[in-house]
Amino acid sequence: MKIGNGIFSIGVNDHNIELFEGQYKVPFGMSYNSYVIVDEKIAVVDTVERDFCDTWLNNLKNIIGNRQVDYLIIQHMEPDHSGSISKFLNAYPNAIIASSCRSFSMMKQFFNVEYGKNQQNVENGSSLSLGKRTLSFYTAPMVHWPEVTLTFDNLERVLFSADAFGKFGANDVKEGWEREGRKYYFGIVGKFGAQVQAVLKKLSPLGIEKICPAHGPVLQKNLEHYLNLYDTWSRYLPEKRGVVIAYATVYGNTKEAALRLADLLKDKGEKVILYNLAECDMTDAIADAFCYDRLVLAATTYNSEVFPFMREFISHLTERNFQNRTVGIIENGTWAPMAAKVMKGMLEKSKSIKFTDTCVRILSKLDKESTVQLHALATELL
Ligand code: FEO
Repeated sequence: MKIGNGIFSIGVNDHNIELFEGQYKVPFGMSYNSYVIVDEKIAVVDTVERDFCDTWLNNLKNIIGNRQVDYLIIQHMEPDHSGSISKFLNAYPNAIIASSCRSFSMMKQFFNVEYGKNQQNVENGSSLSLGKRTLSFYTAPMVHWPEVTLTFDNLERVLFSADAFGKFGANDVKEGWEREGRKYYFGIVGKFGAQVQAVLKKLSPLGIEKICPAHGPVLQKNLEHYLNLYDTWSRYLPEKRGVVIAYATVYGNTKEAALRLADLLKDKGEKVILYNLAECDMTDAIADAFCYDRLVLAATTYNSEVFPFMREFISHLTERNFQNRTVGIIENGTWAPMAAKVMKGMLEKSKSIKFTDTCVRILSKLDKESTVQLHALATELL
């Protein structure tokens, strides 16, 4: 696909994958993007996951014919982007691999190879001339690994953004960017908001006109929208008004309370998103917890603790620096309710969490007293 005058997309779609990076469900597959920049010299930006190497090399050949590649830029060492370097070098033995010093160390660790005369280190602010255009490099540590370096084509004002601005899902599946982009962001770099902020600051003077990420579609219109979303997400600010109710239930009684609360809120016109943590894709629940401004955690006590799905969910949130939210708690317990104490304790180091005054305590099943508490919680959340 043609992206610009001399820029072409040559990536692949993976519809065989079930779990991206061993944990994220990707029912719509995954794309591994790669780009070729054709000028007096030719540069390829990133490779693809190794199982797709032959398709990728064919895509490249379809664009450049018998010309040779001068540079292979590896922006990010993770194998979904670097897994085809060896086969690439078989086809283009004289190409120079341009990447960060740290990236080359990782390549040695992963692939047990050193590239000798084929290796060129790039660092923040360094550049590479291809003829009419110059490529500039910008380090982006922890977006998503420490070695990441982004590339900017100053002729066509295109940013090659590695994992940043990527999304789950193959490029030949029609779906919007936002939901899967949000899930991808909070899944892989949610913890590193400060580093994302630093990169946004570094990129802001560039006058970017297109963003070519390593996953998902090329972003060509309304870039301000995507940049603003990344700014909001990396500052851990709520993106939308609404209440996420995440529940973990054993016999259905905690679920009943969650549904009752949802009805009370919806009756007042509130947006409510419900997740049964044992059944849902946890990535959806995590992304929505960061998206909306209020969160209710409803769980039963289990082994003098909290039901495991809730523990897992809160761990995902705190690992990713969950903060700046209002949180309500519903606990259930038949003989010694502990869930509220455990859930609050797990969030005690999270910044700017405002717990509602009402904490609903259910003793096995909603009764008159706990129903009154539930109404009080709804009123507070509203
Ligand atoms: Fe798409 Fe961090 O690899």
